[in-house]
Amino acid sequence: MKIGLFVHSVSGNTYLLARMLETAFHDLGKDATLYRVSDPDGQALVDQFELDADLYREYLRLPEATADDLMPCDHLVFASPTYFGNVSAEMKTLFDAAAIFWTDAMLAGKTCSALATAGTTEGGADQALKAIHTFAQHMGIISIPVPCNLVPGMDLPAYGLKHYTGTDGSVRPGSTQAIQTEALAKWIVKQTR
Ligand SMILES: Cc1cc2nc3c(=O)[nH]c(=O)nc-3n(C[C@H](O)[C@H](O)[C@H](O)COP(=O)(O)O)c2cc1C
Repeated sequence: MKIGLFVHSVSGNTYLLARMLETAFHDLGKDATLYRVSDPDGQALVDQFELDADLYREYLRLPEATADDLMPCDHLVFASPTYFGNVSAEMKTLFDAAAIFWTDAMLAGKTCSALATAGTTEGGADQALKAIHTFAQHMGIISIPVPCNLVPGMDLPAYGLKHYTGTDGSVRPGSTQAIQTEALAKWIVKQTR
Protein backbone atom coordinates (compact mmCIF):
# COMPACT_ATOMS: atom_id res chain seq x y z
CA MET A 1 0.00 0.00 0.00
CA LYS A 2 1.35 3.40 -0.99
CA ILE A 3 0.44 6.24 1.37
CA GLY A 4 0.75 9.94 0.48
CA LEU A 5 0.48 12.58 3.19
CA PHE A 6 -0.29 16.05 1.82
CA VAL A 7 0.35 18.84 4.29
CA HIS A 8 0.08 22.60 4.35
CA SER A 9 1.86 24.35 7.18
CA VAL A 10 3.41 27.75 7.85
CA SER A 11 4.18 27.88 11.56
CA GLY A 12 4.99 24.17 11.61
CA ASN A 13 2.25 22.58 13.72
CA THR A 14 0.41 20.77 10.95
CA TYR A 15 3.72 19.62 9.52
CA LEU A 16 4.79 18.17 12.88
CA LEU A 17 1.45 16.37 13.25
CA ALA A 18 1.63 14.93 9.72
CA ARG A 19 5.28 13.96 10.29
CA MET A 20 4.24 12.00 13.39
CA LEU A 21 1.71 10.07 11.33
CA GLU A 22 4.28 9.45 8.61
CA THR A 23 6.72 8.11 11.23
CA ALA A 24 3.99 5.85 12.63
CA PHE A 25 3.39 4.42 9.15
CA HIS A 26 7.14 3.87 8.69
CA ASP A 27 7.28 2.08 12.06
CA LEU A 28 4.67 -0.31 10.65
CA GLY A 29 6.87 -0.91 7.61
CA LYS A 30 4.60 1.06 5.26
CA ASP A 31 5.57 3.09 2.20
CA ALA A 32 4.53 6.61 3.27
CA THR A 33 5.65 9.92 1.76
CA LEU A 34 5.03 13.46 2.94
CA TYR A 35 4.39 16.16 0.34
CA ARG A 36 4.02 19.87 1.03
CA VAL A 37 1.25 21.88 -0.52
CA SER A 38 2.42 24.91 -2.51
CA ASP A 39 2.29 28.23 -0.65
CA PRO A 40 3.85 31.19 -2.50
CA ASP A 41 3.45 33.41 0.61
CA GLY A 42 4.78 30.96 3.19
CA GLN A 43 8.37 32.18 3.45
CA ALA A 44 7.29 35.85 3.64
CA LEU A 45 4.93 35.01 6.52
CA VAL A 46 7.64 33.08 8.35
CA ASP A 47 9.95 36.10 8.00
CA GLN A 48 7.34 38.73 8.87
CA PHE A 49 6.03 36.96 11.99
CA GLU A 50 9.45 35.58 13.02
CA LEU A 51 8.19 31.99 12.97
CA ASP A 52 10.44 28.93 13.31
CA ALA A 53 12.68 29.41 10.26
CA ASP A 54 14.65 26.18 10.79
CA LEU A 55 11.48 24.10 10.91
CA TYR A 56 10.14 25.88 7.83
CA ARG A 57 13.39 25.14 5.98
CA GLU A 58 12.97 21.46 6.87
CA TYR A 59 9.36 21.60 5.66
CA LEU A 60 10.45 23.20 2.38
CA ARG A 61 12.70 20.19 1.71
CA LEU A 62 9.57 18.03 1.26
CA PRO A 63 8.58 17.48 -2.36
CA GLU A 64 5.98 20.02 -3.48
CA ALA A 65 2.68 18.30 -4.20
CA THR A 66 0.99 18.40 -7.56
CA ALA A 67 -2.37 16.85 -8.30
CA ASP A 68 -0.50 14.11 -10.19
CA ASP A 69 1.04 12.95 -6.89
CA LEU A 70 -2.41 11.89 -5.67
CA MET A 71 -2.85 9.32 -8.40
CA PRO A 72 -0.26 6.65 -7.44
CA CYS A 73 -1.36 6.61 -3.76
CA ASP A 74 -3.71 4.00 -2.35
CA HIS A 75 -4.33 5.97 0.84
CA LEU A 76 -4.33 9.77 0.99
CA VAL A 77 -3.85 11.82 4.16
CA PHE A 78 -4.69 15.52 3.99
CA ALA A 79 -3.35 17.68 6.82
CA SER A 80 -4.42 21.31 6.94
CA PRO A 81 -4.38 24.20 9.37
CA THR A 82 -7.85 25.54 10.09
CA TYR A 83 -8.21 28.89 8.34
CA PHE A 84 -11.50 30.63 9.15
CA GLY A 85 -13.29 27.37 9.89
CA ASN A 86 -12.14 25.64 6.75
CA VAL A 87 -9.05 24.12 5.16
CA SER A 88 -6.47 26.67 4.06
CA ALA A 89 -6.80 28.16 0.60
CA GLU A 90 -3.55 26.42 -0.31
CA MET A 91 -5.02 23.00 0.54
CA LYS A 92 -8.20 23.90 -1.33
CA THR A 93 -6.08 24.80 -4.36
CA LEU A 94 -4.63 21.28 -4.36
CA PHE A 95 -8.18 19.89 -4.12
CA ASP A 96 -9.31 22.05 -7.03
CA ALA A 97 -6.29 21.02 -9.10
CA ALA A 98 -7.51 17.42 -8.71
CA ALA A 99 -10.42 18.36 -10.98
CA ILE A 100 -8.36 16.81 -13.79
CA PHE A 101 -9.27 13.43 -12.26
CA TRP A 102 -12.87 14.27 -11.43
CA THR A 103 -14.71 13.76 -14.75
CA ASP A 104 -13.53 10.16 -15.05
CA ALA A 105 -13.58 9.55 -11.28
CA MET A 106 -9.96 8.48 -11.46
CA LEU A 107 -9.39 8.83 -7.71
CA ALA A 108 -12.49 6.79 -6.86
CA GLY A 109 -11.90 3.83 -4.58
CA LYS A 110 -8.84 5.27 -2.89
CA THR A 111 -9.15 5.83 0.84
CA CYS A 112 -8.36 8.92 2.87
CA SER A 113 -7.86 10.37 6.33
CA ALA A 114 -7.82 13.91 7.64
CA LEU A 115 -5.70 15.89 10.10
CA ALA A 116 -6.25 19.49 11.17
CA THR A 117 -4.68 21.96 13.56
CA ALA A 118 -6.46 25.02 14.92
CA GLY A 119 -5.76 27.81 17.35
CA THR A 120 -8.69 27.15 19.66
CA THR A 121 -11.30 24.52 20.46
CA GLU A 122 -14.00 26.87 19.14
CA GLY A 123 -12.11 27.63 15.93
CA GLY A 124 -13.76 25.13 13.61
CA ALA A 125 -11.19 22.32 13.30
CA ASP A 126 -14.03 19.82 12.82
CA GLN A 127 -15.20 21.88 9.85
CA ALA A 128 -11.73 21.73 8.31
CA LEU A 129 -11.73 17.94 8.78
CA LYS A 130 -15.17 17.73 7.23
CA ALA A 131 -14.10 19.91 4.28
CA ILE A 132 -11.45 17.29 3.55
CA HIS A 133 -14.09 14.55 3.59
CA THR A 134 -16.42 16.63 1.41
CA PHE A 135 -13.66 16.80 -1.20
CA ALA A 136 -13.15 13.05 -0.82
CA GLN A 137 -16.85 12.34 -1.37
CA HIS A 138 -16.88 14.36 -4.58
CA MET A 139 -13.92 12.35 -5.83
CA GLY A 140 -15.35 8.96 -4.83
CA ILE A 141 -12.56 8.61 -2.27
CA ILE A 142 -13.57 6.54 0.76
CA SER A 143 -13.09 8.33 4.08
CA ILE A 144 -11.84 6.14 6.91
CA PRO A 145 -13.78 7.14 10.04
CA VAL A 146 -12.09 7.26 13.43
CA PRO A 147 -13.89 5.07 16.00
CA CYS A 148 -14.58 6.72 19.36
CA ASN A 149 -12.47 4.14 21.22
CA LEU A 150 -9.41 4.42 18.94
CA VAL A 151 -7.41 5.48 21.98
CA PRO A 152 -9.27 4.37 25.13
CA GLY A 153 -9.91 7.32 27.43
CA MET A 154 -9.30 9.96 24.75
CA ASP A 155 -12.14 11.74 22.99
CA LEU A 156 -11.45 11.93 19.27
CA PRO A 157 -13.59 13.29 16.44
CA ALA A 158 -14.98 10.73 14.01
CA TYR A 159 -13.52 12.83 11.20
CA GLY A 160 -9.81 12.56 11.95
CA LEU A 161 -7.23 13.97 14.32
CA LYS A 162 -7.08 17.59 15.40
CA HIS A 163 -4.60 19.47 17.50
CA TYR A 164 -5.08 22.83 19.19
CA THR A 165 -2.06 25.06 19.00
CA GLY A 166 -3.18 28.01 21.15
CA THR A 167 -3.94 31.53 19.97
CA ASP A 168 -0.25 32.20 19.30
CA GLY A 169 0.33 28.78 17.68
CA SER A 170 2.96 27.85 20.27
CA VAL A 171 1.47 24.56 21.52
CA ARG A 172 3.33 21.98 19.45
CA PRO A 173 2.02 18.46 18.89
CA GLY A 174 3.49 16.31 21.69
CA SER A 175 3.17 12.97 23.43
CA THR A 176 -0.64 12.90 23.21
CA GLN A 177 -0.52 13.38 19.45
CA ALA A 178 2.20 10.72 19.19
CA ILE A 179 -0.16 8.23 20.86
CA GLN A 180 -3.03 9.30 18.62
CA THR A 181 -1.07 9.17 15.35
CA GLU A 182 0.37 5.77 16.26
CA ALA A 183 -3.14 4.42 16.91
CA LEU A 184 -4.49 6.06 13.75
CA ALA A 185 -1.74 4.58 11.58
CA LYS A 186 -2.52 1.08 12.92
CA TRP A 187 -6.24 1.64 12.34
CA ILE A 188 -5.76 2.86 8.77
CA VAL A 189 -3.51 -0.08 7.92
CA LYS A 190 -6.06 -2.50 9.39
CA GLN A 191 -8.95 -0.91 7.46
CA THR A 192 -7.20 -0.66 4.11
CA ARG A 193 -5.52 -4.09 3.90
C1 LIG B 1 -5.29 33.02 7.97
C2 LIG B 1 -5.47 32.24 9.24
C3 LIG B 1 -6.75 31.87 9.63
C4 LIG B 1 -6.94 31.13 10.80
N1 LIG B 1 -8.21 30.76 11.14
C5 LIG B 1 -8.40 30.01 12.25
C6 LIG B 1 -9.71 29.57 12.60
O1 LIG B 1 -10.70 29.82 11.93
N2 LIG B 1 -9.86 28.85 13.74
C7 LIG B 1 -8.79 28.52 14.55
O2 LIG B 1 -8.97 27.86 15.56
N3 LIG B 1 -7.53 28.90 14.21
C8 LIG B 1 -7.32 29.62 13.08
N4 LIG B 1 -6.03 29.98 12.73
C9 LIG B 1 -4.90 29.44 13.50
C10 LIG B 1 -4.28 28.22 12.81
O3 LIG B 1 -5.26 27.24 12.48
C11 LIG B 1 -3.26 27.53 13.72
O4 LIG B 1 -2.31 28.46 14.18
C12 LIG B 1 -2.59 26.38 12.98
O5 LIG B 1 -2.00 25.50 13.93
C13 LIG B 1 -1.51 26.84 12.01
O6 LIG B 1 -0.95 25.73 11.38
P1 LIG B 1 0.61 25.64 11.05
O7 LIG B 1 1.36 25.83 12.37
O8 LIG B 1 0.78 24.29 10.51
O9 LIG B 1 0.91 26.72 10.07
C14 LIG B 1 -5.82 30.75 11.60
C15 LIG B 1 -4.53 31.13 11.19
C16 LIG B 1 -4.36 31.87 10.03
C17 LIG B 1 -2.95 32.27 9.62
